Amino acid sequence: MKKEIVIWGAGGTGRQVFEQLAGNSEITVKAFVDSFKTGELFGVPIYAPEKLLSLQCDFIYLTTVAYAEVLEQIRTLGISESKVVLPVAAVKGNAREAFLENLARELYRKSVQGNVAEAGVFRGGFARLINKHFPDRRLYLFDTFQGFDDRDIAYEEGYDENPARGDYFRETSVELVLSKMPRPEQVVICRGYVPESFAGIEDRFCFVNLDMDLYKPTLEALRWFYPRMNPGGGILIHDYFDTYTFPNLKKGVIEFAEETGAQTFPIGDDLSIFVVKAP
Ligand SMILES: C[S@@+](CC[C@H](N)C(=O)[O-])C[C@H]1O[C@@H](n2cnc3c(N)ncnc32)[C@H](O)[C@@H]1O
Repeated sequence: MKKEIVIWGAGGTGRQVFEQLAGNSEITVKAFVDSFKTGELFGVPIYAPEKLLSLQCDFIYLTTVAYAEVLEQIRTLGISESKVVLPVAAVKGNAREAFLENLARELYRKSVQGNVAEAGVFRGGFARLINKHFPDRRLYLFDTFQGFDDRDIAYEEGYDENPARGDYFRETSVELVLSKMPRPEQVVICRGYVPESFAGIEDRFCFVNLDMDLYKPTLEALRWFYPRMNPGGGILIHDYFDTYTFPNLKKGVIEFAEETGAQTFPIGDDLSIFVVKAP
């Protein structure tokens, strides 16, 4: 009897997992579920997570790095966690967390000064970790807190015409983000459109995470933060290697590296790239 699989996440990692499973004659991929997309991928339907209960599958492969939140959603739906397989999501998510933790240790050891920031916060999943690993640094959090802006979408070539796209990342709030922070007193919320929300901020940084998915705000943020980084520190950019889901982001990072000569290094999570601020 073939095992029936549902893949949670119809992005780049979901696609990779599908391709790996496709050659296995013991498995059928019945559906994808995704919080933001519906439609089809490889001829397989993509459903909203609520549909999961009625799908009757044997295993659910989690492919999103926000797997802790997804596990919570699965519990809320009343589905047994024993069905959940999370190797890919765990490896990718844990590698990025380990990078952050190790980098923070090194920056403290070398006494690199400066505050920290994230542009692209959504519900604060990664911001919480930045706040935890840099407890004595001010943490600036930049987001519209209402999803993408049309001014950026206009720059996206070949971007998937998904009807749900306009609603991406709207379900969040400043209160929710603050409630997750271990040191909320360090947090400065910068609500608004990047790069406009940089106006009036005068500070130096040792670590910045960029997670805005799109070409234009990523390029603008690199240009704004890089001169404000202290030597030894750097800027981490998520999703650089997921060119399936984010076809234009990588182009912006390469454009920036070429205009400044900044050095970039993959961090081993199969998704992110790190821009180092040279002395
Ligand atoms: C992938 S989510 C961030 C995920 C988050 N880092 C986490 O740990 O879960 C992308 C976020 O970027 C924000 N964003 C995209 N373009 C932006 C812009 N130009 N200005 C401000 N925020 C933007 C969206 O509102 C969304 O919350």
